[in-house]
Amino acid sequence: MTVQKIMVIGAGQMGAGIAQVCAQAGYQVLLYDQDALAVKSGLTSIEKRLERAVAKERMTEADKDKTHNLLQRANDIQEAEQVDIVIEAVIENMNVKQEIFKQLDSIVPAHTILATNTSSLPITEIAAVTKRPEKVIGMHFMNPVPVMKLVEIIRALQTDDETYQTIADVTKQLNKTSVEVNDFPGFVANRVLMPMINEAIYTVYEGIATPEDVDTVMKLGMNHPMGPLTLADFIGLDTCLYIMEVLHEGFGDSKYRPCPLLRQYVQAGWYGKKSGRGFYTYE
Ligand code: CAA
Ligand code: NAD
Repeated sequence: MTVQKIMVIGAGQMGAGIAQVCAQAGYQVLLYDQDALAVKSGLTSIEKRLERAVAKERMTEADKDKTHNLLQRANDIQEAEQVDIVIEAVIENMNVKQEIFKQLDSIVPAHTILATNTSSLPITEIAAVTKRPEKVIGMHFMNPVPVMKLVEIIRALQTDDETYQTIADVTKQLNKTSVEVNDFPGFVANRVLMPMINEAIYTVYEGIATPEDVDTVMKLGMNHPMGPLTLADFIGLDTCLYIMEVLHEGFGDSKYRPCPLLRQYVQAGWYGKKSGRGFYTYE
């Protein structure tokens, strides 16, 4: 299948990054969010990153302009009627995602693939609310999208081979490496990463060490580029909690229980970097 136009739904940190890499790879991109301000700030953050790339001589002014011209805001989800692929990157909540997929299913043409950037939710369950389950697939980018090389591609039970192949080809075109994984809670990335982050939060909760010291242990002791609490703040503590809940419910194993401190921070609205406060405070 030839892909020319992609719509990204959700202009938060992931959606904006996905829109950027798609435009840089030469696709026409529509960026949509229910919050018009999120689209505006998403496009501003992309523009700043492109300018920085030009300043660092990693991109020419002409390529920046080309990328810029390929990116457009969508004012209505109805504009999905023009696209070949939709990549959904809204909050990690099954009800919200299913509602969007139902709506998209009635808007987009028959050939359009509906992909989700969910971190952990069952793709099979999202696919099941559409009349095109064979064209639904997980396309899990890593944060920050413009920097991280990996995309996990997750087939729903219903996904057909053509859909998988198209998404694998697009991922290659984005200059990313894909790994195919099966549809189980947390896939591979968050099945492995999130329990580590949750355990790091337990070490703070139990008074074993401060967030700074936990992060230092993992950075200097294990050569991680970011300590787990800095990384949790970077991912978003709301997203971390959603993922732990999916693992806990999906496997029914108490080893995945979210740390009460994580739950409390989210209740307080301390979502990490995006809200200005998490384990650390941000300007
Ligand atoms: N968006 C775009 N680019 C960014 C960025 C962002 N948010 N943050 C940093 N960068 C770029 C910088 O512009 C810089 O590029 P240039 O040198 O070309 O300008 C480059 O990344 C390195 O940045 P810095 O020198 O400022 O900082 P750093 O060397 O510490 O690297 C980092 C930053 C790449 C984020 C690094 O700290 C890192 O790899 N951290 C771990 C990230 C990680 O684990 N991501 C996966 C999270 S889990 C996930 O995504 C799955 C999920 O479902 C939750
Ligand atoms: P975010 O909070 O930064 O952005 C979410 C955006 O979705 C917001 O702008 C919000 O306005 C928008 N939104 C919410 N409901 C919507 C709706 N019904 N219609 C349209 N837009 C809506 O979140 P994020 O960190 O970008 O995460 C987005 C998705 O990507 C989640 O599924 C998350 O699990 C996944 N993900 C996150 C990371 C990460 O590190 N943060 C990494 C990989 C995957």
